[in-house]
Amino acid sequence: MSDISITKLPETATEPTDTRKVFVKTYGCQMNVYDSQRMADSLAAEGYVTTDTPEDADLVLLNTCHIRERASEKMYSALGRYRKMKEKRVAEGHNMTIGVAGCVAQAEGQEILRRSPSVDLVIGPQTYHRLPNALQQVREGKQVVETEYALEDKFEHLPSPKREQVRKRGVTSFLTVQEGCDKFCTFCVVPYTRGSEVSRSVAQIVAEAEELATAGVRELTLLGQNVNAWHGVGSDGREWGLGELLYRLAEIPGIARLRYTTSHPRDMDEALIAAHRDLSVLMPYLHLPVQSGSDRILKAMNRKHKAEDYFRLIERIRTARPDMALSGDFIVGFPGETDEDFEDTMRLVREVNYAQAYSFKYSPRPGTPGADFKDHVDEAVKDERLQRLQALLSEQQYAFQDSLVGTTTDVLIEKPGRFEGQVVGRSPWLLPVILENNTDQIGDIVKVKIISTGTNSLVAEKLS
Ligand code: 5AD
Ligand code: SF4
Repeated sequence: MSDISITKLPETATEPTDTRKVFVKTYGCQMNVYDSQRMADSLAAEGYVTTDTPEDADLVLLNTCHIRERASEKMYSALGRYRKMKEKRVAEGHNMTIGVAGCVAQAEGQEILRRSPSVDLVIGPQTYHRLPNALQQVREGKQVVETEYALEDKFEHLPSPKREQVRKRGVTSFLTVQEGCDKFCTFCVVPYTRGSEVSRSVAQIVAEAEELATAGVRELTLLGQNVNAWHGVGSDGREWGLGELLYRLAEIPGIARLRYTTSHPRDMDEALIAAHRDLSVLMPYLHLPVQSGSDRILKAMNRKHKAEDYFRLIERIRTARPDMALSGDFIVGFPGETDEDFEDTMRLVREVNYAQAYSFKYSPRPGTPGADFKDHVDEAVKDERLQRLQALLSEQQYAFQDSLVGTTTDVLIEKPGRFEGQVVGRSPWLLPVILENNTDQIGDIVKVKIISTGTNSLVAEKLS
């Protein structure tokens, strides 16, 4: 794990003197979206306001993703653009601080300063509560790399978001309950960038959820790299898993919908499956990546389960919640993957029938065991397999959407639509729903009939 700190940061920052603007650009997963919001909240306490235009920002903060090579390359090309903006701003007599946060910051640390000298600050995901202090150091003319794992709990040191800020973000919210991963899948950088599994306490999570509910949030998505590995001591003094936590969060007044992501098949325990059976607020949509349908490849990936275990698990989940829609992640072209292995993946997809899924070509990541494996698959073969898999997954996605036409369901009204009288809501399966001539309030949950489907949305009419 990188552990570089050019400057030792003091524990307290000096008071802000003026209002500054920050532009935050988020790459990657929902956990980064949540982190970006928390960073913006902690900067707001220092007098920063957010801007949508980097050209007039005093601080440009990139919250980066390292999961695949393309994701980190995106960051480096963006840094080239921000360097030019910075030069222009400096020529006009202003300043612009460029900060890199997130998983590339953690993985590459000082290397980022070498490749992009216009960067002033590199800060990892475990230390972003120290951002105000780091910025103070930058103002004093230093370049700062802050990627040491913090001994203190960052959540204890982050200011709570202001209520107006939460309201502006809407009626759905993310809430990180767990970070890091101990699974060490051989393709994945997460255990190295986000560190080992840490669960936030029940008290902290419940307090944050209550605060969000008071500010008008109706739908909470609990986040974690391995969210169903979450555990903690419950209010009854017993050890809780995610299932028990969901029962507790379901009691919070105002919270009408709960979701969680991303789960590992090995951590779907009995209590969590029972929560899907018992809690109507727990939405019938589950992202449960399997990565491959071949036992040989699953073993090489260190997934510690077989395809058959996954099928049995899906059966138990569907017994508990028959309307459950499933989503997954797939990697094609993992080292050693033969045509036969790939056909096993296609068979698994046909058998499970996904409502939605993400699929990727294997991308060797430095420092992971997979990168050193032999028998890397040809790019052209990876391309062909990905195309075939994505065609099958799209077919399933459209079939799922079509199957909803004519059915009735609940929709959470989220925001005004593009046209007068139109609103956009969210179905239990995450798909956006467009409602015409609607006068309901943002945050209302209304009964609708689905009348047609778009590419990635549904069109519905309200039932009176
Ligand atoms: N190459 C391709 N895809 C990857 N993922 C993680 N690491 C890699 C990699 N090295 C995919 C997995 C994971 C999702 C978040 O990204 O499918 O579930
Ligand atoms: Fe990565 Fe595997 Fe952990 Fe998921 S479970 S974060 S894929 S190591």
